[in-house]
Order: sequence, then C-alpha cells, then structure tokens
Amino acid sequence: MLDTKVAELLNTQVNKEFYSAYLYLDFSNYYMDNGLEGFANWYKIQAQEERDHAMLFMQYLQNNGCKVTLDAIDKPDKELKNFADPLHAGYEHEQYVTSLIHTIYEAANDVKDFRTMQFLDWFVKEQGEEETNADGLIKKYDLFGSDPRALYMLDNELGARVYSAPSLVL
Ligand code: FEO
Repeated sequence: MLDTKVAELLNTQVNKEFYSAYLYLDFSNYYMDNGLEGFANWYKIQAQEERDHAMLFMQYLQNNGCKVTLDAIDKPDKELKNFADPLHAGYEHEQYVTSLIHTIYEAANDVKDFRTMQFLDWFVKEQGEEETNADGLIKKYDLFGSDPRALYMLDNELGARVYSAPSLVL
C-alpha cells in the first residue's frame, strides 16, 4: 500500500489532469469559434493527452490497491480575449502542473517510496516537453501571428498534429 499522503496527492492529480483536459478543450473551442481550426486541433489533442495522464494516475493507484475518488472538475476560468491568451495561459498552467508533479515526487521521496518516484519519472520528463512545446507556441505566435498569411501557415502546421497514445504503459 502507498503512504496516505502520497496516495492523496496522486488522487488529487487525477482531478488536476482532467481539469487540464477541460482547460485545453476550452482553448480548442475558443480557436474553433474564431476560425483557427489548426490551433483548435492542437489543443484538442493536448486535451486527449491530459485525459491519458489522468487515466495513468488512476491506473497506478489501482495497481497499488488504492481506491480512486473522483471529484468535481472545475470550470475552465481563463479569460480568452485574443489569440495569444490561450498560449500564455497554457504555458503558465504547464508550469503549475510541473510544480504539482514535483510536490508528489518530494512526498514520495520523504517516505522512500521509490516505486512512485520511478512512476513519476515519466511525468517529470513529460512536463519538460510540455513546457517546451507551450513556450514554443508562444515564440512562433510572437514571430508570425501578426501576419495573416504566416498565421494561416502556422494554423495549417498545428492542424497536422495527430494523437498518439502515451509511451508509458502500466
Ligand atoms: Fe498532464 Fe500537460 O500535463
């Protein structure tokens, strides 16, 4: 069995990951409403990845004999007034999620729960990639967003993103 605090944090993370999926669906819908279907596609796939993360946390808890409690998912509350807002909100959100993963890691480390630390290693790496991707989107938008033709091409590029299942299998 897992340490009580570690199990609680992992259970909370299930909700946080589903919230992330919800948040990115909100971003996807915002772009869809504004005719940027490629940006909408990028965030819809990001939402699928977040759902996968939630499922991985649930599966890990269940593999360790822990009961999973699902809580209400908060309403996405980011104010989206222009095309850059979701990009900045997404980057900030990923930095927040990284801090959550690190907090669980610290709790596991405190009780010498090496199994959970090993499980979380994948997420530590994943967060590095997600922060880089989110920051990369901001940089691209800053460079090209003000030119309609370049924005059209960037939207096409983001529209080419396809979903792939997580590389972590439990
Ligand atoms: Fe599940 Fe974007 O971190």
